[in-house]
Amino acid sequence: MFSKILKYVGIAILALLLTGAIAYGVFAWRFDRKVNKPYAVNVRNIPIPTDSATLAYGRHLYEIKGCGECHGANLGGRVVINDPAIGKITGTNLTYGKNGLPSSFDNEAWLKALRHGLNTENKPLLLMPSQDYYKLDDHDMAAIIAYCKSLPYIDSLAAPNEVGPLGKILTVLGKIDMVPAETIDHGYKQPEKVQTAASAAYGQYLVASCTGCHKPALTGGDNPVPGGVPVANITSKGNVGKWSKEDFIKTLRTGNTPEGKVLRNEDMPWKMTEKYTDVELEALYLYLKSI
Ligand code: HEC
Ligand code: HEC
Repeated sequence: MFSKILKYVGIAILALLLTGAIAYGVFAWRFDRKVNKPYAVNVRNIPIPTDSATLAYGRHLYEIKGCGECHGANLGGRVVINDPAIGKITGTNLTYGKNGLPSSFDNEAWLKALRHGLNTENKPLLLMPSQDYYKLDDHDMAAIIAYCKSLPYIDSLAAPNEVGPLGKILTVLGKIDMVPAETIDHGYKQPEKVQTAASAAYGQYLVASCTGCHKPALTGGDNPVPGGVPVANITSKGNVGKWSKEDFIKTLRTGNTPEGKVLRNEDMPWKMTEKYTDVELEALYLYLKSI
């Protein structure tokens, strides 16, 4: 009798394990298909100037677009995710030093990464948020690339990317934006130059750096990082609607809101937004107030 029960329990456990293994196998297969899918894209070449004003502006963009969070302030690369379940992912060493970009990584390769989220084999880059960058105008894109290419070479350790089982499952379920190439409009024609001004129109252009967390409609909601704090509504319906321009600028420069809340840089990256110029912050304010 007892051995019979044991037998059934054993069969039940085996069946469960088998179902689990098959389910995971399906997730892993769907993940591999996503990341190995080649894309056919037309990379539109643009001139990359190298004068000092362009390089200085490119440095500013590197800072306000948060590149350093994942590639390091010196471009030498940085570990972005290090979790046995989700994976180990490193932002590439963007210099041409050891384990950095190969010398064959030309302007077309830069544009393919930043405007299409693809590597030189036309396959998706993991986690590189090109969906926030691909609409940057030619002028800004050229400045970022020029700046990155102007820095001294840095040697780094080899850091092959690995995605763990949970990372694959969450990607297939759409809970982590691991494959930005999927959400990019690869036929988008970027303007040559968007007019820099303290205007709502320029704010709308800049807000692409906020939508990754605050959502396309800027109404906030769940944090894109599993387990993160909820993201605030920053349209005129939220607190921003009650703030003066000065309140807004102070919040994005210090992390202190007029309501007395202290924003943690890990939640709301104000050490990035503090680098915005007055004109850029005013433009963002005008746009957010208008929606
Ligand atoms: C959220 C983190 C993150 C941010 C922010 C980010 N990157 Fe990346 N980037 C990555 C990761 C991770 C990779 C490597 C992806 C891979 O190898 O699949 C990458 C790859 C790249 C590549 C391609 C390198 C290669 O090996 O093919 C370039 C170029 C690049 N990033 C430039 C930038 C620039 C410039 C910015 C800012 C405008 C930026 N990245 C912002 C995470 C990030
Ligand atoms: C990495 C994710 C992330 C990015 C990128 C981001 N934010 Fe936030 N932001 C948050 C989170 C999360 C909160 C809520 C923090 C809290 O409640 O402690 C927040 C809060 C805010 C607040 C305070 C709102 C309030 O009611 O107190 C403002 C204003 C704001 N963000 C503006 C911006 C702007 C403008 C940008 C783009 C330039 C931006 N954020 C980019 C995650 C982000």
